[in-house]
Amino acid sequence: MASKPNALCGERRDGAVGRRRATAWLLGLTLGAALAGHGLAAEPAAGPARSARLNYILHCQGCHLPDGSGSPGKVPDMRGEVSQFLTIPGGREYLVQVPGAATSRLSDGELADLLNWLVKTMGPPPPSGFKPYSQAEVSRLRPNWLQDPKQLRTRLLSAFAPARPPAATD
Ligand code: HEC
Repeated sequence: MASKPNALCGERRDGAVGRRRATAWLLGLTLGAALAGHGLAAEPAAGPARSARLNYILHCQGCHLPDGSGSPGKVPDMRGEVSQFLTIPGGREYLVQVPGAATSRLSDGELADLLNWLVKTMGPPPPSGFKPYSQAEVSRLRPNWLQDPKQLRTRLLSAFAPARPPAATD
């Protein structure tokens, strides 16, 4: 009987240490994965592409996720799709004026770089003759950001190739 409280006590201590270790391990794992996953540690410092990628991580991936896959029914999957908007009337403006982009805390130049990076990275390859977004273009379009993006998005999607399901964000 005398040994029972001690055993319990020992168990509690071990439990606490175990939890602390687990927390430290998890933190290390999370940080490690974040750095490795985004190549922040490994990538050589570069020009606009580097800061666009970093800006995506800081300002966009909370909703769009690191790979652009988004979240079904809430945030559209941009992979293999986003630059298709550049092939249809109104699509080029849409990518700037969608609220996540237009109301972000990025300068016009940073947003232009980020969108240029995004369409190349998420694909499909931008249409031939694609003219990169410029700071001036973003400055011009951005103030008219979309109050009702879903409606326009549905309309734009219907102009895509017929394979596209129209209700991707509903
Ligand atoms: C709070 C969540 C959220 C954040 C943060 C966010 N977005 Fe979005 N994004 C959305 C949603 C939701 C949509 C679908 C259209 C809509 O309803 O706004 C979208 C759509 C888009 C689209 C059009 C893609 C499509 O298929 O319709 C682009 C381009 C885009 N976002 C870029 C960005 C960029 C660039 C950033 C960071 C500067 C960003 N977003 C930050 C939620 C977000």
